[in-house]
Amino acid sequence: MASWEFCKNVFYTLCFCSLLFIGIPIHIDKKDDAATKAMLRTKFSSYVKTFNKTYAPDSEDYTARLNNFDNALKTIEQWNRNRKSDESALYGLTEFADLSSEEFGQKYLRKHHHSHGQRNHSGHGHHSHHSIAKRAILPNVPLKFDWRAKGVVTGVKDQGPCGACWAFSTVSAIETMVAIKTGKLTELSVQEVIDCARFGNLGCNGGDFCSLLEWLTTYNVSIGPATAYPLLLTNGVCKWEKGNAGVIVRNNFTCDYLIGNENLILHSLAYHGPVVVAVNAISWQYYLGGVIEHNCPGDPQLLNHAVVLVGYDLTAPIPYYIAKNSWGKRFGEAGYVKLAINSNVCGVACEVSSVDVE
Ligand SMILES: *[C@@H]1O[C@H](CO)[C@@H](O)[C@H](O)[C@H]1NC(C)=O
Ligand SMILES: *[C@@H]1O[C@H](CO)[C@@H](O)[C@H](O)[C@H]1NC(C)=O
Ligand SMILES: *[C@@H]1O[C@H](CO)[C@@H](O)[C@H](O)[C@H]1NC(C)=O
Ligand SMILES: *[C@@H]1O[C@H](CO)[C@@H](O)[C@H](O)[C@H]1NC(C)=O
Repeated sequence: MASWEFCKNVFYTLCFCSLLFIGIPIHIDKKDDAATKAMLRTKFSSYVKTFNKTYAPDSEDYTARLNNFDNALKTIEQWNRNRKSDESALYGLTEFADLSSEEFGQKYLRKHHHSHGQRNHSGHGHHSHHSIAKRAILPNVPLKFDWRAKGVVTGVKDQGPCGACWAFSTVSAIETMVAIKTGKLTELSVQEVIDCARFGNLGCNGGDFCSLLEWLTTYNVSIGPATAYPLLLTNGVCKWEKGNAGVIVRNNFTCDYLIGNENLILHSLAYHGPVVVAVNAISWQYYLGGVIEHNCPGDPQLLNHAVVLVGYDLTAPIPYYIAKNSWGKRFGEAGYVKLAINSNVCGVACEVSSVDVE
């Protein structure tokens, strides 16, 4: 009896205690919750103003955006907490922060038509993956290099929701190769490439720069000036005709897999010209600036975007490549992204192309 009484008391006490423990936190949580929600709404309305977003308040859309924004804040906080230095990538509220990660991927990225080893060779094997053969001793590269400083890189473009990163990046590299060769920097028509390129390329619905280069060289396509064939960011009817004036890509372009051989990327950058690379850009949704070293896995099956590398800096505390993106000048560092060297960050070494022009 006594022992039952004792047990009962203990039991009741335990219950009471746990009720207290459960009860008090719930009470505090509710208050906190309301305060957190209010703070979130305040932050969100300031975000909405800054980025000129228009949602009907309390509409379904507004609620979904608010939820995405809440998730964005959490991810940003977590990634920034793990920063190792002031040079490390900094994440924050970008114009994309009200999209879910899936929406961001669907709108701005395209599943990369991974061409490594699957490219349409059809007798054109001259740009095979010969990087390993080139591995021999490389001359030292300069400690830093930037084609922009030579005045041979055109301005940053904005692809908007047109998934033609493969065209923007390749055309940018070609523009620079023309400028290196002729001393004249001219913008070439990305729209021509969007409308005309075949071999699996689908205009704004995605493509691959290696198969674009294959197509350009197979048909000896001339890329005309941007002024003659202006950017519309939609899939249009191809208006290119054989014999049109424009730039022709030489058929000795490269398309290499350089994981573990990133010194070859540096070598190409310093001694040849910009290189086009495929990347996984899903984490760039919140990128503000600094060198990306983490949160950006480089598995080949994750590739979903293409950019052009225009330089590098080995003297920086975290050595980095300078990548020109096509999401407008407001993105990242005036439209550019810094990617750490030597660890296949964002998959930067999975598919690397150099081009030459006739
Ligand atoms: C928002 O609109 C204002 C006024 O039109 C403009 O000055 C500002 O640059 C816009 N901001 C963004 C992020 O688009
Ligand atoms: C491969 O290239 C040939 C032209 O050389 C073309 O007719 C064919 O459609 C291409 N195949 C693919 C899958 O792109
Ligand atoms: C490619 O086109 C250019 C100019 O349109 C022409 O001069 C050249 O001979 C062509 N080359 C081939 C291989 O068709
Ligand atoms: C293509 O060939 C030219 C001349 O032989 C050479 O200078 C250039 O480096 C080559 N381009 C590539 C991308 O290998």
